[in-house]
Amino acid sequence: AVPTIKLNNGIEIPAIGLGTWQSKPNEVSAAVEFALKEGGYRHIDCAWGYGNEKEVGEGIRTSGVPRSEVFITSKLWGTWHSRVEECLDQTLANLGTDYLDLYLIHWPVPLNPKGNHPIFPTLPDGKRDVDHSWSIADTWKQMEAVLKKGKVKAIGVSNFSKKKLDEILPTAEVIPAVNQLEIHVYNPQHGLIDYLKSKGITPQAYSPLGSTNSPLLSDETVTEIAGKHSLNTADVLLGYLVTKGYVVLPKSVTPARIAANLTGAVAASKKLESADIQKLDGLAAAGKQKRFITPPWPVDLGFEHWPKL
Ligand code: A2P
Repeated sequence: AVPTIKLNNGIEIPAIGLGTWQSKPNEVSAAVEFALKEGGYRHIDCAWGYGNEKEVGEGIRTSGVPRSEVFITSKLWGTWHSRVEECLDQTLANLGTDYLDLYLIHWPVPLNPKGNHPIFPTLPDGKRDVDHSWSIADTWKQMEAVLKKGKVKAIGVSNFSKKKLDEILPTAEVIPAVNQLEIHVYNPQHGLIDYLKSKGITPQAYSPLGSTNSPLLSDETVTEIAGKHSLNTADVLLGYLVTKGYVVLPKSVTPARIAANLTGAVAASKKLESADIQKLDGLAAAGKQKRFITPPWPVDLGFEHWPKL
């Protein structure tokens, strides 16, 4: 069985979930079906903004695994901050379910709902059309409302820096259960994660392998630790994050990798020693700091509020 982590509301979340960002619609159904049916997964991470939720839902249904046994997360897209329940209803219809286990604010950046594009509204100067009149504290109020209604079992955030969390926490009745961030050995976010821990917010790691064409998989230190324990480098990258108590969300559409990522993460989390963890903890500070996902928001907003170390 997949290890679980208890969230601040008592709900157990499987520590390893399948990521679906950049999984093509024509590949993701089979990937999700395989993960659930053969790979032992019980946790799928999706988002309205990924444009493949219908196909994810199809994969969940064809897997034959009962809905009640699968932990499903989705995320509110930026153009819907002032209409949370509407976006959620679309996601529920896309996925073919009547509740989510976890619903997140995808980015702390409200986008103009009446802009020139339903997903990526853009200004004439090429920057994203950010809705500066909307407060994310009000988005959070609407998240709390759909939680109260029972449409979702837990709520959280994604890509929130300390500064952005501090915009919603003073008026929050419910503390976010998670903050989903780009976390891996080259972007460990130690400072922000200490803050999350002090608030009881569980970190979730997206791009834990370093996303597409990742240099992490051939990192010297990671390779050395993998060799020592007869593990793959991917196992070490994932197991490191599981050991630290984070939820990890490796993305793959390749059956062999999907299966190996789960078994490898569990195996590595048992084999890694504190000296290994210490070495991996220090990689970024030793000059390897690197972030692979660049937010598509204007520099004045996106980078200023982008999670900093
Ligand atoms: P693919 O989906 O074609 O199998 P991340 O989770 O950090 O975003 O990384 C996802 C990327 O890493 C995808 O390109 C995925 O490719 C690839 N990937 C996933 N698992 C592994 C693995 N075990 N070994 C090598 N590459 C992997």
